[in-house]
Parts: sequence; structure tokens; C-alpha cells
Amino acid sequence: MAENYFGEDVAARYDNPDWEMFDPAVINPVVDLLADLAGDGPALELGIGTGRIALPLAQRGVPVHGIDLSEAMVARLRVKPGSEQIGVTIGDFARTRVDGEFAVAYLVFNTILNLTTQDEQVACFQNVAAHLRPGGCFVIEVGLPDLQRLPFGETIRPFHLSETRLGFDEYDVVNQGLISHHYRAVDGKFEKWSIPFRYVWPSELDLMARLAGMSLRDRWSGWKGEPFTSESTKHISVWEKTGV
Ligand SMILES: C[S@@+](CC[C@H](N)C(=O)[O-])C[C@H]1O[C@@H](n2cnc3c(N)ncnc32)[C@H](O)[C@@H]1O
Repeated sequence: MAENYFGEDVAARYDNPDWEMFDPAVINPVVDLLADLAGDGPALELGIGTGRIALPLAQRGVPVHGIDLSEAMVARLRVKPGSEQIGVTIGDFARTRVDGEFAVAYLVFNTILNLTTQDEQVACFQNVAAHLRPGGCFVIEVGLPDLQRLPFGETIRPFHLSETRLGFDEYDVVNQGLISHHYRAVDGKFEKWSIPFRYVWPSELDLMARLAGMSLRDRWSGWKGEPFTSESTKHISVWEKTGV
């Protein structure tokens, strides 16, 4: 089982309405696209967390089931109105199977990178394909590694600097490894939280999809269908289950 980096302390501060990711202007386009792809079919969220996306999607009438490793994150979901409609299975989304055949499966907010080996990321695509109906879609939202800005031979890129928060990504370009270090000011001292990722290129994800019997249907740089270009810093990719 993968290691759980979303324990009680992280879960307790995850739902912060001041963060952009909780802004309805950010959430609504995500839910619009997922609801469109789901139609009346069920949706499977890998890494459902506290239900940031699953709850508004269920409110649109889409049946949603989630998988998550973290009991603490799911406990936060469970106290929210509307969560009683959402089924959750505790387990590793790379390999955990749930009942049902889904119209859409989705993995947002960089969460594919939480699988820190290529084998686990490949297994995740295969697990998703096994849950999708023919023609069903897998949607991933993930950032691109900031390697064009990493000076040759260096390993650290800052991603946030303010009086109360500091963030640095530490790259291991040999192994496609990335550790995000977060420092948060608490009572005049900085507390540190670090989490490991495996960064992955769009082309490698396309190959993982192909190995699992899926093919690329769309790739954008944003949830409103913005074009994906050489300057994009993230992508939304949609693969369709086409068979083996
Ligand atoms: C960054 S949060 C995203 C939560 C939610 N999808 C959202 O958009 O707010 C990542 C979530 O994925 C879960 N997670 C990470 N790796 C996992 C794995 N291998 N299997 C299951 N859940 C995992 C974490 O417990 C956490 O709840």
C-alpha cells in the first residue's frame, strides 16, 4: 500500500476557502466538463479527498464513487451535506477495485504524481481501464515539471514565497523524482511538510493509456478547453477506452 501523506494534520487544514482551488470560478469548469463526460453514467474519483470536486459533481445528479487512502481526508468529506450520496472505498487507487462500470474516471490536482514509481502509474491506468465502460473516459489534471527553468546541475525551484509560506520543489532528474517542501509559519516558527512525487510527461501518460487500451481524445491547458502549447504549465488530458 502506498504511504499516506494526508493524515489528520493535513486533512484538518485542507479545506481552506482562501485557496484558489476552492474558488467556484476554479471548481465550476472542472465539474462542467466531468458532468458532460459522465452524462447519466457514474463517475469514479481517484483520490477523492474531502470531496472538493465530488460533492458539486454529485449535486449535478452524477452518481460518484471515490477511492482514497486517507481515512482522515474522507472523514472530512463525510461530515459535509450531500456526502451521503457518495460511496467511498478506502484503498490505493493504483490497484483497488470497486463494483460498477463507470462512464468517467478522474484524477485531478496533480494526484497522479502521488504514485512515485512508473509501475504504480502504469497500474493506475490499467485499474482505471478495468473500471470504465467501452467509450468511457479517463481525465487527468496535472502540472508539467518546471525543468525549463531549472538551471543546469541545480535541483531546487521555489514555487511560493511569502511571509507565512515558503515552497520549494526538489528535482531528481535521473529518476523523474520531485519532492515538494512546504514551510508554514505557525506561532513565529516555520513547520515543514514534504511530499514525494514522480513527475511524468504527457507522452509517457499517452503510452500508459495505450498499454491499458485507451487513446488520447483531448488535451487542453485548462478546464475550459484552452489550447495546450509549448508554454503551458499544466494539462487536462482525456483518454477514451477503445479496447485492447
Ligand atoms: C491533493 S489531494 C486531492 C483531493 C481531491 N481530489 C481534490 O481535488 O481536492 C490528494 C488525495 O489523494 C489521496 N491519495 C494520494 N495517493 C493515493 C493513492 N495511492 N491511493 C489513494 N488515494 C491517494 C490523498 O489521500 C488525498 O486525499
